[in-house]
Amino acid sequence: MQNRVKIGMFGYGCVGQGLHDVLLNSRGFRTDIKKICVKDRNKPRRIGADHFTFEKNVILEDPEINLVVELISDPEEAYHIVKQSLMSGKNVVSANKKMLAQHLPEMIELQQKHNTSLLYEASCCGCIPIIRNLEEYYDNEMLLSVKGIFNGSTNYILSKMYNENMDYPTVLKEAQALGYVEADPSLDVEGLDARDKLAIITLHAFGLFLDPDEIFSYGISSISTFDLQYAREKGLKIKLVPTVSKIDDTTITSYVIPQFVKPEHFLYNVENEYNGVIAEAAFSNKQFFYGRGAGGHPTGSAVLSDISANSYEYRYEYKKLFQKIETNYTRNIPIEIYYRYRRKEDLELIPFSEIHESYKSRDHNYVVGTVNLEDLYRLRPMLKNRKVFLARTPDNGTQAEK
Ligand code: HSE
Repeated sequence: MQNRVKIGMFGYGCVGQGLHDVLLNSRGFRTDIKKICVKDRNKPRRIGADHFTFEKNVILEDPEINLVVELISDPEEAYHIVKQSLMSGKNVVSANKKMLAQHLPEMIELQQKHNTSLLYEASCCGCIPIIRNLEEYYDNEMLLSVKGIFNGSTNYILSKMYNENMDYPTVLKEAQALGYVEADPSLDVEGLDARDKLAIITLHAFGLFLDPDEIFSYGISSISTFDLQYAREKGLKIKLVPTVSKIDDTTITSYVIPQFVKPEHFLYNVENEYNGVIAEAAFSNKQFFYGRGAGGHPTGSAVLSDISANSYEYRYEYKKLFQKIETNYTRNIPIEIYYRYRRKEDLELIPFSEIHESYKSRDHNYVVGTVNLEDLYRLRPMLKNRKVFLARTPDNGTQAEK
């Protein structure tokens, strides 16, 4: 049975407005947004001032509002809003991946203690329903890995640089104008947004809370035309690929790293703001989810799906977490990378166990070799300030490796 939903919403930015459009066009589902709480009093808005409030308690203390939809960018503020809502018996829909990745254990406790529900499909991969699939379809399947493209803006940047030879600052601005980029763009381009989504997905896929800081993440901010040309010459593309995978029965590893992909790879044709998720399980084998990963309308559509699910009393059961199957985490794995560098000391920084290919010219040098992920993780701060770029070499291209 569908329950009546009275919504109090926080934020009216790209996703908030996207949700509004999606709601206006939804035929099957009718709901009321009673009030929208926003920060900026002077910003011109496309709907009347009577829809808005600047005081969060107007929503949080309104007994008629039974669902809080949190769509702001500030993770700290979002944390307090979501926490207070759950504690006061209101259900919540949130899209705030940074906040969720940091506070999921507490959020699960709050839901249990106050018998409330927090849904957040829109936090991961735009309109691809990956969390609900992990919860419901893969609840008893032995997952082997989940990987893909989880960030729309970096995929947009990589696509435009590769396909149209656009330069990085121009295409970043374009992605910002299209509403794909976070208020703090470094979250996207340094791989941190993809990392936060990976932490959320890891909980639903493998039942393990990972502090996002424990995940090695390397973004695309230092990519150069040389790297793209290297990819083109080898018939490859570069994608930013978050991965969580089993390395044995009881251990998983995870990382976010640019990766060269071959034309036969599922991710090769995932372009622009689109995302793709490959879930591999022992019995169902590989399934590929594809859809728009950023932007007001696709994300608004995921939020609407959660609002609707909430009205039917759907809640996450965190099945993998409560199955309590032994799951350990390691970064102690070898990984083959392409490493483009300039100076001798930049090469010496990386403790390669093997070097398989080496190239030197006046302006650009690179090696392809094997390094331990733990070493890369340890070297994160040092990698930042150098003119270097690294990317995983392609998967073998066999069906099993795709
Ligand atoms: N900045 C995010 C992205 C928005 O580019 O994917 C959607 O989460």
